[in-house]
Amino acid sequence: MAEGTPLPIRDTSWPALHVSRHPAILHKLAILRDERTEPKKFREVVRELSWLLGYEALADVEVTPLRVQTPIEVTDAHQLGVRIGLVPILRAGLGMVDAMLELMPTAEVWHLGLFRDEKTLRPVEYYNKLPDSATVDLCMILDPMLATGGSATAAIEVLKRWGATRIKLVNLIVAPEGVDAVTAAHPDVEIYCAAVDRELNDRGYIMPGLGDAGDRQFGTGH
Ligand code: PRP
Ligand code: URA
Repeated sequence: MAEGTPLPIRDTSWPALHVSRHPAILHKLAILRDERTEPKKFREVVRELSWLLGYEALADVEVTPLRVQTPIEVTDAHQLGVRIGLVPILRAGLGMVDAMLELMPTAEVWHLGLFRDEKTLRPVEYYNKLPDSATVDLCMILDPMLATGGSATAAIEVLKRWGATRIKLVNLIVAPEGVDAVTAAHPDVEIYCAAVDRELNDRGYIMPGLGDAGDRQFGTGH
């Protein structure tokens, strides 16, 4: 394939993985990866990428018909036919919420707090704001990074125990190890991302990645 030609959107080695190769996404991703990008710009680009990936992740959801009166005449139209719950994984997923709400203004937002224990790399749950029972048709988990897959798998398990039947995972950058882990445990969960990076380093960071997505958004990476 010629240099500069966007690659296909679906990676055939993982049927549930959708990798966007849209030029706008590629351009913004470079800004995000650049270590010189300051938190304000970083947050802005996380938001823009989230909007673009959210747009793609919504491409197959159902719409229902309705009739609308234009200034000229009544016409057939459509509205989103699914109730959507957005589940940002604290902290880094917070930066993806506003863009998703622009796309889906009627979505509910339920925060889930998970952090990775730096020694074991296992997720630790510290906050859960899910309602008592499952009230939506589609849950979208938002987290910029899928590294070992521990946090995403834990979030999916929490949602499934709670009663979620349809889950999509929206990440900015994923590692092959994380995609393997999530798709092995939950082949029904579709993953949307802007890039599949090379591998994890011995501290569980994605290479080349962008560093710590939470620290870079919130200016805490000292
Ligand atoms: C990061 C990231 C994911 C997790 C990914 O969060 O936002 O939640 O690591 O790693 P995993 O796939 O190996 O589980 P982190 O634990 O650094 O917390 P933070 O968002 O509060 O910075
Ligand atoms: N979490 C991050 O924020 N970055 C990584 O590279 C891995 C996990």
